Amino acid sequence: MKRREFLKGAVLSTALLASGKALATEGNYSRTGKKGFLRLLNPGNPTVLEKKHVPAIDAPSKVGKDEWFEVKVRVGFMTVHPSTPEHWIDEITILVDGVEVAGTDFKVGGVSAPEASFKIRLNKTSTIEAVDNCNLHGTWISDPVTVTVI
Ligand SMILES: [Fe+2]
Repeated sequence: MKRREFLKGAVLSTALLASGKALATEGNYSRTGKKGFLRLLNPGNPTVLEKKHVPAIDAPSKVGKDEWFEVKVRVGFMTVHPSTPEHWIDEITILVDGVEVAGTDFKVGGVSAPEASFKIRLNKTSTIEAVDNCNLHGTWISDPVTVTVI
């Protein structure tokens, strides 16, 4: 009986992990239920909305295996997003190899800066992406950043 429950849980965990990855890569991800990603389309000529909504990731390019390191995300990558009671970033999340690993919500506009820091560790070279949601302008994703485990 216990073995059966263990196997059932293992199958469910695997399915959830797989579905999380699929959701992220298909652009249907958002913890707040909003659908679709917006991203930087022309890096040489970003739009005003892209400048203040595409998140920027600050992370080391190389880390030790299983060593904690900091990932900082700021919104946007060229212009600081407004933070007012009517218009603010209400969600910042990071994905590792397409799977959500950490995130934070900002419940009230005009109080929190449009940035977040996370401390994570990796056991293999991975890509990190950041996702943010603006309450007026949708859900935005960064380009992937590769962190090499040495
Ligand atoms: Fe916005």
